[in-house]
Amino acid sequence: MSDWNVNLYLQFGTERTQPAIDLISRINIANPNKIIDLGCGPGNSTECLRRRWPEATITGLDSSPEMINSCRENYPDQEWILADAAGWQPSSACDIVFSNAVFQWMPQHDRLLGHLFAYVAPGGVLAFQIPARIYSALQQLIIEVANEPEWIHLMEGPKNTFTIESPAYYYDALAGTASKLDIWETEYWHVMENAQAIISWITSTGLRPFLAALETETQKQRFVKILGERVAETYRAQADGKVLFPFRRLFVVGYK
Ligand SMILES: C[S@@+](CC[C@H](N)C(=O)[O-])C[C@H]1O[C@@H](n2cnc3c(N)ncnc32)[C@H](O)[C@@H]1O
Repeated sequence: MSDWNVNLYLQFGTERTQPAIDLISRINIANPNKIIDLGCGPGNSTECLRRRWPEATITGLDSSPEMINSCRENYPDQEWILADAAGWQPSSACDIVFSNAVFQWMPQHDRLLGHLFAYVAPGGVLAFQIPARIYSALQQLIIEVANEPEWIHLMEGPKNTFTIESPAYYYDALAGTASKLDIWETEYWHVMENAQAIISWITSTGLRPFLAALETETQKQRFVKILGERVAETYRAQADGKVLFPFRRLFVVGYK
């Protein structure tokens, strides 16, 4: 799959960063020393952590060279690590292991959470946010288009890219080791200029595996065109021409 496109991702930077701000606001720790931002992307979530805890040592980690290069360029005074979060093994435990909009790209969440929680210091937290399991109309439309006969044979992998479990699953995965768990969902109603903006939003994230699997540029353009038509039929314009894009997200904060 091609690398992430930082500029495309940050086209909706405000909307994508709000869940990080909301997650941070629910972390009840006054003076953490050491924080890791797993899947830090272009550093937007890391910057929110730094604003809340300016005295802490904060490191951003991401597996995308493009994202980490952008972080190093824009925030040269911080530590950035190019690595897979699944294999992360810090030299000492962290007070906050944080991850905003990342774990859905990684498999086997019970094992992943067990691994990461082992690196939370006593009194510290593991805090993460992912899209909620109840798939949106948009996700259903993507699957519908992926199931078109012309490319269905290429779509098995992309359809299985994402791992998103239920609140009950995450409770069971952490309840044995966490002293307290806060779990909640929020549905954001993003105001988009038009239906095409929803395509721009998803092209830089959830659509990437589907487009990467297609063999030609013509196929990719056709996939996006068909999806665009269905999105315009489903997400109708409001009286002022704008389009509401509901996006449900799941939050978990587990204290050690
Ligand atoms: C949707 S972005 C989230 C960026 C940022 N945390 C934010 O709040 O907007 C997902 C990021 O997770 C990274 N990512 C995905 N899988 C990863 C993995 N296994 N290890 C490290 N980073 C990963 C991607 O490279 C991408 O930068």
